[in-house]
Amino acid sequence: MESFINTIIRGETVENMKKMPDESIDFCFADPPYFMQLEEGKKLYRVEGTEFDGVDDEWDKFESMDAYKTFTIEWLSQVRRLLKKDGAICVISGMQSVFEIGTILRDLGFWVINDVIWQKSNPTPNFGGTRLNNSHETMIIASKSKQSRITFNYKTGKELNGGKQMGSIWTFPVCSGNERLKDSHGNKLHNTQKPEALLYRVLALFTKVDDLVLDPFGGTMTTGVVAKKMGRNYVMIELDEKYVKYGEERLKSVKPTIGDIEKAVYDIKPTRVTVKEMVDSGFLNIGEKFYHKNGLTGILINDRGHLDYNNKVESMHEVAGKMMGRDRRVNAFQYLYVKRNDELVSIDKIRSEVRKIKDKRLGKGK
Ligand SMILES: C[S@@+](CC[C@H](N)C(=O)[O-])C[C@H]1O[C@@H](n2cnc3c(N)ncnc32)[C@H](O)[C@@H]1O
Repeated sequence: MESFINTIIRGETVENMKKMPDESIDFCFADPPYFMQLEEGKKLYRVEGTEFDGVDDEWDKFESMDAYKTFTIEWLSQVRRLLKKDGAICVISGMQSVFEIGTILRDLGFWVINDVIWQKSNPTPNFGGTRLNNSHETMIIASKSKQSRITFNYKTGKELNGGKQMGSIWTFPVCSGNERLKDSHGNKLHNTQKPEALLYRVLALFTKVDDLVLDPFGGTMTTGVVAKKMGRNYVMIELDEKYVKYGEERLKSVKPTIGDIEKAVYDIKPTRVTVKEMVDSGFLNIGEKFYHKNGLTGILINDRGHLDYNNKVESMHEVAGKMMGRDRRVNAFQYLYVKRNDELVSIDKIRSEVRKIKDKRLGKGK
């Protein structure tokens, strides 16, 4: 696998995936042919009469829907073989083929987790006024199987969404301006170049630093570019030599910037620290008083966190609840204190100090 990592493979995707080892990929982003089925020779015109350059590329053509489905089964089967057991895929498509792709994903044993609507803030109009303006695409997120424990950086999503739980409708403009790659004549290089912002969110939510991300339909290499920027590894596959050439140039100029979102620091669970570790390291003492701010006290009688309170021995969480007049346990770390230099210090703060030392010893930390 080593030789494929951080490269663009030029060639047919199924044939090339067959050369890769089982269970070697953490995440796949796939933007396959949509099978737009535009009528041969039929051109689209803007209201003012100029021709609109839609997706009528050779790579989007299939003999029939059956041929498209056969191809979809082939490439998705390869992706599923390549994914690690806890791996996941995000496939993007439109109404032309998203239903077929969804059915095939399920038939192959993938487990659908979410469908995300990418709402385009600047969609192409329906020039003829014959139907609704098609202003979204759908991304299906699925794990390799129902049992997969996929990476999902929930709190990172919340952070990206201004502190609110991330929903499944994402609004981004289609790729335009400087981001849009041009060929040597100044024309749009690729008809379906995806915006980097979309990929950034997908990779921030579903991958980790150093993960290996596969894109079987590389195009202008947007996935590779964003993966590299975010400190992920990539394998890109693309049939068209021209896209590979431009994509290689694009990837060369990318420099990684790995901040808190990229590292998903919001989702890193704090290292577990036990009362025994706090006692053994001398931060808590058997026989000392634990205080609630209302003046009630208990005495720590062992390194399992039991307190003697009103001549009864119970866990500090039970005791904290009783001190507060509740008929249930509460988190003692939120409510109990010990005295240091005559001042009340929260046992949670003490636990954080012990955690810092432990993290250092384990070589963890930002
Ligand atoms: C929808 S575009 C992907 C665009 C890409 N996400 C981007 O941001 O530029 C699909 C790409 O897949 C390529 N492709 C289509 N069929 C292929 C095949 N069988 N093997 C390899 N590449 C293929 C096309 O040349 C095209 O560039």
